[in-house]
Amino acid sequence: MGGLARRVSYIKAFKQRSNLEVPTLFVDAGNLFSDDRAIGDQLSAELMTKNKWVVKEYGNFHHDAANIAYADLPYLGELLKKDGYDKRVEEYPFIERLVSANIQPVDDQRRAPAPYVIREITLKRGAPGQKIRVGIVGFTEAKQLSMVDKQTTYGGFRIGDIFEAARKVLPELKQKTDFIVALAYVPQDQAQRLASENPEIDTIIGARQLNSLEEPQHFNRATIAYAYNQTKYLGEMRVYVKGDGTIENQVNRYVALDSSIPDDLVALEAVTTAHNEFTSEQNKAANTQFTGGGTAALENAALSPFVGGATCAGCHVAEEQIWSKTRHAHAMATLENKNQQFDNECIRCHVVGFEKGGFQSLITTPQFANVQCENCHGPGREHASNPGKPYGQVRTPAACVQCHAPPNDPDFDFAIYWPKIRHGSKEPIASAKAP
Ligand code: HEC
Ligand code: HEC
Ligand code: HEC
Ligand code: HEC
Repeated sequence: MGGLARRVSYIKAFKQRSNLEVPTLFVDAGNLFSDDRAIGDQLSAELMTKNKWVVKEYGNFHHDAANIAYADLPYLGELLKKDGYDKRVEEYPFIERLVSANIQPVDDQRRAPAPYVIREITLKRGAPGQKIRVGIVGFTEAKQLSMVDKQTTYGGFRIGDIFEAARKVLPELKQKTDFIVALAYVPQDQAQRLASENPEIDTIIGARQLNSLEEPQHFNRATIAYAYNQTKYLGEMRVYVKGDGTIENQVNRYVALDSSIPDDLVALEAVTTAHNEFTSEQNKAANTQFTGGGTAALENAALSPFVGGATCAGCHVAEEQIWSKTRHAHAMATLENKNQQFDNECIRCHVVGFEKGGFQSLITTPQFANVQCENCHGPGREHASNPGKPYGQVRTPAACVQCHAPPNDPDFDFAIYWPKIRHGSKEPIASAKAP
């Protein structure tokens, strides 16, 4: 939900400024939900919570439609279960604004999502009461396993051929609407092919890992623009319509959702509540791991290639004293202040040896919290028990930029940073490669 509070605030301000003269539709090109399944088809309780908030808040804050990307399917499978469907839609009406024309459930336990939704907007500057019906349709590529192989069955759904689905659904949608927007989670060449094969489409909003801000392209009748792959920019496509309802021009621009845009307070509160609930879920998971495997955690710690800075401090008193005054020593507190101490997306740079036999969680392995000696000097268990061996020569700046890199630290400069944490008597060896 990154950037939601800024996005909402921008959209509200825009609507206010234009005094509702300009009707707006708010769409998402896909990949809303987290798909990080631990075992088999199961989403963890924390991801279920995260995703539940996404579907709730997208509904609350103006989203008119969202495309379904293949990575959305495992969670969508939960939303579209026939069992309890009506009640779910009542709670989260956004479910019925999720569209895809090319996915079908593999069995009869789930419903198919709507291929499209239709929104009617009233043109304020046209003839009085003049309305335009906008059809919003969705497409997703299958999961690409390699250059040639694709996984067409995913999360309980079959992902069908995009172009076949387009041929089937677009003429029907054209009958019912004046303007068609295709949301397409597909590579660029396929978005272009969609446009050239289907003259019904007016606009394609593509999405898939694009991190440049490109000018829209024109293929056949359609204008194609791409969503930026992170929530740092909001794409804004303006469609200018002539008096007779036909399109005059389409212009796309990207609005940077940076600190110049204030957070919307209502959205911010929702994000904070979501966050707290998510953290408590992660907390619970960590606790279960602990009560379920207390001794296992201790055994793991004994087998870990890392020992933790407290052990190093036993022999390297001076270095430890310097380190304890640097921000590295407080990196976990920084996350705790943001209530993100259980967020795997954050902790990897704020702890020792995450996913390398070191830090697991604050509850099972508190000794590995913070950026410590072994983040730079490497795993030290062997050295600690046999200090004679050569150990721990740090190659810089390579060792630093594993963490000090954009987007987390765009301003890193080794010559300025090293003096702030300098210890020992040797100067580092410069190398662009980690040891
Ligand atoms: C039991 C005492 C002891 C412990 C525990 C210990 N060291 Fe050492 N360490 C030494 C000694 C002694 C030397 C010096 C070896 C030498 O100069 O031959 C040394 C050398 C080093 C060096 C310099 C190596 C070099 O080539 O000059 C680094 C870096 C280092 N230790 C880091 C650590 C880190 C990090 C830890 C914790 C993971 C740690 N040490 C744990 C005793 C210890
Ligand atoms: C494992 C990840 C990691 C590595 C490796 C790492 N850092 Fe850091 N560094 C951090 C984090 C995280 C912070 C912020 C801690 C906080 O404030 O909570 C930080 C903060 C700092 C700061 C304080 C910045 C400031 O503005 O005061 C300095 C200086 C610094 N690091 C220098 C270095 C240098 C030099 C290296 C390489 C020799 C290095 N770091 C390697 C993660 C890392
Ligand atoms: C790729 C490594 C990396 C990841 C992942 C990472 N951080 Fe950091 N973080 C850093 C580094 C490096 C710094 C120090 C930046 C500096 O020198 O100012 C830092 C600093 C911070 C600071 C202090 C910034 C300041 O200006 O005072 C906060 C807060 C923070 N991180 C929170 C987070 C959160 C929350 C996440 C997860 C969403 C996260 N970090 C993920 C590397 C990382
Ligand atoms: C952010 C990275 C970083 C952290 C954290 C860090 N060091 Fe270092 N350390 C270095 C660098 C770089 C040098 C410079 C010499 C080198 O390249 O080995 C160094 C030098 C040393 C030396 C001196 C080697 C010598 O012969 O002069 C020792 C001993 C040492 N560190 C121990 C520690 C201990 C103990 C800790 C934890 C309390 C620690 N370091 C934390 C990066 C780090």
